[in-house]
Amino acid sequence: MPSPNPLLDAALAVRKNAYVPYSNFAVGAAIRTVAGTIYSGCNVENVAYPQGTCAEAGAIAAMIAAGETQIAEVLVLADSSRPVTPCGGCRQKLKEFSGPEVKVTMTNLEGNDLVMTMGELLPGAFDADQMDRT
Ligand code: THU
Repeated sequence: MPSPNPLLDAALAVRKNAYVPYSNFAVGAAIRTVAGTIYSGCNVENVAYPQGTCAEAGAIAAMIAAGETQIAEVLVLADSSRPVTPCGGCRQKLKEFSGPEVKVTMTNLEGNDLVMTMGELLPGAFDADQMDRT
């Protein structure tokens, strides 16, 4: 039987592989593209803390490596009391490949969902036209 929520299943599965010896805070992210493919990523920490990467960055890297660039929907999952919202850097990374209408579901293991659009998560985003002097 097909899963009722393949994005959630992908995030749950990849989160199990998160490498989080420093924060012990495992995150899973899943992206559905306009083509309908799902890509997932987990956070990968490093002893040099700033070198760690977020789950969202991993999912984006998988999408780009597979030759896709257009995000249709995102889901982020962690074992937190409240749904975890993407960090500022990840909002900008997601925005590179998402329109403002793209739905981002933030959820925890209890299924407490917070659903926002990219436009709501990153209002006033920096865009290429801001570099235009004409
Ligand atoms: N983290 C993510 O992977 N995604 C988020 O949306 C929030 C934070 C990771 C980064 C770090 O490995 C850990 O969570 C604690 O900040």
